Parts: sequence; C-alpha cells; structure tokens
Amino acid sequence: MTDDKKLTLEEIKARVRVVCICKGIKMSRICDAIAKGASTVEEVNKATGSGNGGCGATRCRPVIEQILKNGGRPITNTASEPIMGDDDEGDSF
Ligand code: FES
Repeated sequence: MTDDKKLTLEEIKARVRVVCICKGIKMSRICDAIAKGASTVEEVNKATGSGNGGCGATRCRPVIEQILKNGGRPITNTASEPIMGDDDEGDSF
C-alpha cells in the first residue's frame, strides 16, 4: 500500500470487499489505483479492469465514485451499496 495514513480496522475490512462483482475486483485494488494517480472512474477502470463486465458498471460505478470522493480511502458504510451483489429486484427463482 502506498498510502502512509493508517487505516482503521473497518477500512482494512472494507478493502477485501468486492466492488466490481462482474470482474471480481476488490476495493483494495480500486484504492491502490487511486493512490497511484487514477482520479476518475474511467482511469480506475483502465487501471484495474473494473467496469466492463456484464452489468455495464451499474453496480460498481457508484461505489468507485464514492471511493474517489473519499479521497481513495475505503468506504466502510456500505449499507446502501450493492457491493456483494445482493440485488433484490424481485425476480422469481
Ligand atoms: S460490477 Fe463492475 S462491471 Fe459489473
């Protein structure tokens, strides 16, 4: 990790969460890409391979935007975010 700021325990836990479910890209890779200079969602996607999966980035883009707004630090309050792919669109089984 290139960031010299210490992470909280919650931030460390958040880093292992998958942000781009389609491509299996974890938050740690997103944060590291931002730490290395990516400053837009497109730059993060280019650096990590996120954002070009089957969902068309509808699931990961909002989370990446939040991480960017958070200065590249992991997002810990994910209650309203579909990070784990738990969509409840009401489709029948
Ligand atoms: S979750 Fe990232 S492209 Fe689908």
